[in-house]
Amino acid sequence: MGKFFVFFLFWTSCLIQVETLTKFRIGGTVTCDYNKNYDYHVTLYEDDILKDNQIGLVSTGIGRGSGGFHIEGEDTHDGPRNNYFDLYVEIIHSCNPYDNLKQKYNYFLGYFLIKHGEEYVRSYNINITNAGKYTASTRKLINTADFAKFNDKSPDA
Ligand SMILES: *[C@@H]1O[C@H](CO)[C@@H](O)[C@H](O)[C@H]1NC(C)=O
Repeated sequence: MGKFFVFFLFWTSCLIQVETLTKFRIGGTVTCDYNKNYDYHVTLYEDDILKDNQIGLVSTGIGRGSGGFHIEGEDTHDGPRNNYFDLYVEIIHSCNPYDNLKQKYNYFLGYFLIKHGEEYVRSYNINITNAGKYTASTRKLINTADFAKFNDKSPDA
């Protein structure tokens, strides 16, 4: 009987843990003014002091004009003093005048009150036209290729 009671307490505390979850369904469109196909990867993050938490899975697509995205996920309580989730999406995309250049754009979604069992459903229309920083890795790749070409040509010249 005693053992069962201890198990019961443990079980109850597990249930309470589950109830502190806040759910998110974040979707919408990205739009690009350039007349080209572009690819995009949308990741939902909660801004955290130590390490930003990813929520849900990455939503990817290939767009022309506009493209859709949808992310579903959940997060637990953020810490004793913080009553809000501070959310943003990181969009890695190629909506710019270049051939294969990726940009990284952080779009702030807002503060969401941490409410046990709450589900937030939101839709956004995000203009990603040439938005964000050019990513270093792509730039490096292009530079290396240009450099190799230059080296190949120089002995002939
Ligand atoms: C999207 O952003 C670009 C670059 O900032 C701007 O030139 C363009 O007018 C915007 N398009 C729309 C539909 O808001």
